[in-house]
Formats: sequence, structure tokens, C-alpha cells
Amino acid sequence: MGIELPAVRPEAEKGANESEDVPPSKVVYLNYRVLESRGWDINDEDLFEKAAEADLPEHQYGVMEVDRTESLLRSAEDNGLKWPFQCRSSTCAMCAGVLKDGEAEMDMNLFLEDEEVEEMDLRLTCTCSPESDEVHIVFNCIQMPYVYDISQNRG
Ligand code: FES
Repeated sequence: MGIELPAVRPEAEKGANESEDVPPSKVVYLNYRVLESRGWDINDEDLFEKAAEADLPEHQYGVMEVDRTESLLRSAEDNGLKWPFQCRSSTCAMCAGVLKDGEAEMDMNLFLEDEEVEEMDLRLTCTCSPESDEVHIVFNCIQMPYVYDISQNRG
């Protein structure tokens, strides 16, 4: 005579939408200001390799763990980082970042055009959460001339 145990699926078999069961994502971040000061370009393929070798302080470049349900901005703040923001609700571009590798989606976007998301890889970090195991993002992209321009002229 045995006791019937409830069926438990191994982690690997669970659906991707069961985000609370998925381990946090490793998010590697880099401040856009570093690109300006070093003469690097946002389209450089080896941007994060160069950053890793540049002995940058933690507020400029580093790694943090981010839950799949948490925004990149909130997680940065929880890690003691000061990323720029204003509305915190996807209606400005103050928190904009450029996704360089991995997947990270916004659960709300009331500001960016589709092509800015799909082709320029812009993300609003206040509403954006990681979806892949590893994500590389350049933050503080309000300093990019294009992003600054749309922040001033769109609305
Ligand atoms: S802070 Fe305004 S869109 Fe993120």
C-alpha cells in the first residue's frame, strides 16, 4: 500500500511563461557614457569584450542577477546603481537602453516605435525584463543623440 504523491515536473520541462520558476537572468550592463569617453560605437561587435578588459568601476560596467519578472531599472536600483529615469511607466525615453545580446521584452511601451525596438534594439528599462539566461545591455542611452532627440520632440 503506497501513498500517491502529486506529480512534479522537473524544472526543464516547465513552460517559459512560468517565470517564477525560472532562475534569474545574468544581466551584463555598460554605461553609454563609457562609449563616449572611450570612442567606442554602439554598433561595435566587441563592445562588451572591450568593457570587460577596461577595468571599469561597478557603476559603469558589471553584472547583476535579475528575476524574469523584475524590470532592469528596478533591479539596477536594488543593486545600488543609479540609472536614469523619469516616468517609470514607458512614456518617456529617460531610461532607454540598447539591448546588445540576449532577449529582454517590455511589458509596456507607450513611447518607442516598432522599428526602434526591432531594428535599433532600444528598450525602456523601466518596463523591460530579461527573457534569456544572459542579457547584455547598454544603459543611460538618453545620452545617445538619437534618443535625446526623440525624447525632446516626440509627444
Ligand atoms: S522612465 Fe520613462 S520610459 Fe522609463
